[in-house]
Amino acid sequence: MSPIEHLYIHIPFCPKLCPYCCFYVEEGSKNKNRAFLDALLKDLEVQAQTREILPRTLYFGGGTPTSLLADQLEYLLSGIRDRLPLHRLEEWTVEANPATVRPEKARLLKDAGVNRISLGVQSWNDATLKTLGRMHSSAQARTTVETLKAAAFEAINIDLMFSVPGQTQEQWESDLQTTIALEPSHISAYCLTYEEDTEYFRKLTNGQFTQDEGHDARLFELTMDRLGEAGYRQYEISNHARPGCESRHNIACWEGREYLGLGPSAFSTLGGERLQNVCDTAEYVRKVEAGNSPVFSRESLAAATLLKEKIAFGLRMDTGVEESLLSPWAGEKEHLVDIGLLEKSGSRLRLTRRGRMLADAVGEAFMG
Ligand SMILES: C[S@@+](CC[C@H](N)C(=O)[O-])C[C@H]1O[C@@H](n2cnc3c(N)ncnc32)[C@H](O)[C@@H]1O
Ligand code: SF4
Repeated sequence: MSPIEHLYIHIPFCPKLCPYCCFYVEEGSKNKNRAFLDALLKDLEVQAQTREILPRTLYFGGGTPTSLLADQLEYLLSGIRDRLPLHRLEEWTVEANPATVRPEKARLLKDAGVNRISLGVQSWNDATLKTLGRMHSSAQARTTVETLKAAAFEAINIDLMFSVPGQTQEQWESDLQTTIALEPSHISAYCLTYEEDTEYFRKLTNGQFTQDEGHDARLFELTMDRLGEAGYRQYEISNHARPGCESRHNIACWEGREYLGLGPSAFSTLGGERLQNVCDTAEYVRKVEAGNSPVFSRESLAAATLLKEKIAFGLRMDTGVEESLLSPWAGEKEHLVDIGLLEKSGSRLRLTRRGRMLADAVGEAFMG
């Protein structure tokens, strides 16, 4: 069996919960303790007994990994280094919220071998940040980018969100220009999604917020134009990178490679199965401490499901998919080419510019 090359670790803590977020997270520090970190490390050890782990990419996501205290982060990072061979590691990403990174933490991450930071800025406009319920200001985010650069991080991703209630086209353009001027290696620009069971979703359903597809499309086009002109390649619908600075971890996941996820709510794709850990930090700790598996759901991935996922994720990338994968849907494929949403590129098919604006609908065509 080949080794596991991609590892995700979910840190489910945030200083404050955002009203649009549907990730499994907890506010404050109730479970943010040594027992949680020990459970993560024990889970890793148990996994490493059943299957060799030789990471090429490590990804600490959340939640907000940088909401751990400096000594907790140090304990976790050195615990990982002690338990895993890292000589093949190419990329180690940590997600960060601008309110939680001071120079000491930035240096600590760099010294431990982390070489990529993904910073959740969302906007450079203080009114938009307020609407999003973010706990940081635009000035604080700018200082954090400078702190990361001072700590010699070359790979910095900035997360932005557009179509936020009240955000104008001019404000979004200004967010893009401010981000470009800071020269990050990577920019993720997400259209706000109203996720079920969030405060934002409730406000949408009771009419406090409204959606405007035309406005969303204009902001998406502006994103492609401005980031493209500035030298960022849109290698995935929401992800733009300077050449060579794409997220290797995310590409591996989108390409359907195997990965192991640790921590509450984390998914893994291993041995033809999709597994998910319990979405409860205290329960995760109890299970791991007791020597039980923290996995609560396990789905066997049939070949047809794997194929559909490969197509859905592949079409979101600018490299597209091998045309032969779409042969069960020959009629749909030709129709989408005819109406200008898909285009051929050698043996591959990919979304056209217009197709990128309708990516979900195009992907749907191959799901039946
Ligand atoms: C798991 S969060 C990690 C970053 C960190 N916790 C933070 O928020 O600063 C990853 C990114 O997903 C995006 N995101 C979260 N919820 C979203 C939503 N409902 N719609 C669109 N993007 C969202 C945000 O840009 C966020 O930075
Ligand atoms: S800080 Fe990030 S992970 Fe935490 S609630 Fe906000 S968007 Fe979600």
